[in-house]
Amino acid sequence: MSDATTNAGTAIPATLPLRNDLIGEEPYGAPQLDVPVCLNVNENPYAPDPAVVETIAERVRRIAPTLNRYPDREHIELRRAFAAYLRRESGAGLGVEQVWGANGSNEIMLQIFQAFGGPGRIALGCDPTYSMYPEYARDTFTTWQVAHRNEDFTLNVERTLAAIEDVRPAIVLLTSPNNPTGTPLPMEDLERILAACETASVRGAGEGVHPVVVVDEAYIEFRNPGTPSAVTLIDAHPNLAVSRTMSKAFAFAGARVGYVAASRGIIDCLRIVRMPYHLSAVTQAAALAAFEHTDEQLGRVAHLRETRERTAAWLRTRTYRGRALEVADSASNFLMFGGHFEDRDRIFAAMLERGVLIRAVGPDGWLRVCMGTDEEMARFREALDEVLREAETGR
Ligand SMILES: Cc1ncc(COP(=O)(O)O)c(C=O)c1O
Repeated sequence: MSDATTNAGTAIPATLPLRNDLIGEEPYGAPQLDVPVCLNVNENPYAPDPAVVETIAERVRRIAPTLNRYPDREHIELRRAFAAYLRRESGAGLGVEQVWGANGSNEIMLQIFQAFGGPGRIALGCDPTYSMYPEYARDTFTTWQVAHRNEDFTLNVERTLAAIEDVRPAIVLLTSPNNPTGTPLPMEDLERILAACETASVRGAGEGVHPVVVVDEAYIEFRNPGTPSAVTLIDAHPNLAVSRTMSKAFAFAGARVGYVAASRGIIDCLRIVRMPYHLSAVTQAAALAAFEHTDEQLGRVAHLRETRERTAAWLRTRTYRGRALEVADSASNFLMFGGHFEDRDRIFAAMLERGVLIRAVGPDGWLRVCMGTDEEMARFREALDEVLREAETGR
């Protein structure tokens, strides 16, 4: 897996006592470039409408005179808003003690690794999947292991169950819809894994201890209507944690708000490892303001879903060196396409030359594009047609 362009390099003198396992590592992150069409980090391309901006400003203004004080470290009001949202969005009836927020679901996931991973512990994921997972593992001295997905990127349940028995992970990390493939995880598959984990043992832990199953639902609001979310299983499974974010469908990536729904026991484990006052008063105020406008914030989700379907159909009519492009079935706001690009970095660079930033990520031969506005998608199609035409003529 690679990005065609790297981030600004590091300048770390050898005289610094950087941890041995971090020597040679680079800061992770997708390129942040100033280009006309940014379709590389799976954001919602639609800006908050003026009413939301007004409420954010008003809420922040209201708490500004109290900024000499630390914020509510239990962020109770915001947790009430998470629970209310999950009830509305997925029909889950959860109490305040069953939800927990942090600075993006990245931080939620790091807290999960801090609480349940560590030296001698294993986290199991199903690749290809989100490239940050091995970094959470590295940063918490947890061993990262993978069970490979099927050729069509669906979860290979048998292989995953065998790995759970074999490596005895403390954390089983599933992603639905998966990034970068967009593949949803059927509830039957999740329930089989949950059932196995109820009796599975954990390397590096005592008897009677069972793995935590984490479902990363960062993109879940883009699923096809009528599909259930894993949050509906929480009351029946004390070892299940479902991670969510306001960064994607909720159009709030810049505010950095993620959350997790789980049993009270899991939340209490995360409360042990969190930094004191990790969620600033400004962040809490902004998130509460956004939840006051849930309808507006989610207003473009249905349209982005349609854009995904239309773009997938369009991509399937395109060819690269005489063969139709493949498109992985996606329940998210992005599409992984190509399948047989001989030099995907070249295609990526040719798109960038035309002002369209996509992502060279996932298995070799594939690229990922996130759904933009109608105008952005028109530019994407135009640029890709030119690039594919060039490839056809061997230029
Ligand atoms: C699968 C998945 N999980 C989690 C995240 C992190 O999102 P955030 O930290 O913005 O909530 C991302 C971001 O791209 C993602 O793709």
